Amino acid sequence: MADVDYQHLEARLGRALLAQRLKIQTHHVARLFGSGKVWFHIEHIRLLHRIIRNLLKAAGLYWRGHRNALTVQVNSDDLPCPDLPEAFAGFRLLHISDTHIDANPELLDILIRLIEPLEYDVCVFTGDFREGTFEDYEMPVRRMLELHRHIKTKTYAILGNHDAIEMVPALETGGIRLLLNEHVMLEHGGSSICLAGVDDPHYYETDNLDKALEGVPENDFKILLAHSPEICRKAAFAGINLYLCGHTHAGQICLPGGRPLLTNSKCPREFHAGLWRFEEMTGYTSRGAGTSSVAVRFNCPPEITVHTLRCK
Ligand SMILES: [Fe+2]
Repeated sequence: MADVDYQHLEARLGRALLAQRLKIQTHHVARLFGSGKVWFHIEHIRLLHRIIRNLLKAAGLYWRGHRNALTVQVNSDDLPCPDLPEAFAGFRLLHISDTHIDANPELLDILIRLIEPLEYDVCVFTGDFREGTFEDYEMPVRRMLELHRHIKTKTYAILGNHDAIEMVPALETGGIRLLLNEHVMLEHGGSSICLAGVDDPHYYETDNLDKALEGVPENDFKILLAHSPEICRKAAFAGINLYLCGHTHAGQICLPGGRPLLTNSKCPREFHAGLWRFEEMTGYTSRGAGTSSVAVRFNCPPEITVHTLRCK
């Protein structure tokens, strides 16, 4: 993989936040300071993954859970956006989150097959391309770029708590534009809206909404990509109209009825999955396309989603 230009990343993310991310990315520092917004991170306790995997195998449930994890649903929904410019009514976003693309070797082909027939105007990834948090990132980048070759539109993305900042140059060379506390303007039908993205607000806590919205007029319609729903309150008060995120996997292993055992996020339950509303802001938390820690799902199918924006 090509050398990483840290100066360029610093100019985009901000000096203090890049330093924070790089320090926490270093394993021993992560153990001391990388607890993020919750005190318990199941994904960092490898022994626990093995125990859960073995318990599920002993109970004869593992392979059923693994099949569930690969049965990705293609959802489509209408997102009510009261202040949306009329030209964007009917605009479609393909939303893919939490692929953890190296966790399940079969997932890449499944996703390629599923996205092939879909129609959409722009694609957004809301982070967690990689399974491990401190391992090699070259293979997940290669697989994400292979997936991206089958996406027909421009693609924007943010990093999640599993991703390394060093993945940015390679992903961008392959055509996936990362938003590192940055925004772009989307043009459609003679009108424009803002698409902003913040760096991971959960584990690295390197999100900077002010920087992401720098120069965006107050009354412009604003979509925010954030890895987790945990900054929804801050985003609503900053004038975000639509908030797209993932991270929770909606629990991944849930009780019948979809009640999660663990969501690894610090925010009220209604923000953990699907469509929600906070103040004037519409939000959607993807259940994610992949799995982390243990490659199973129960009562919580994986998804990719085509959101259609509606004025009402
Ligand atoms: Fe994830």
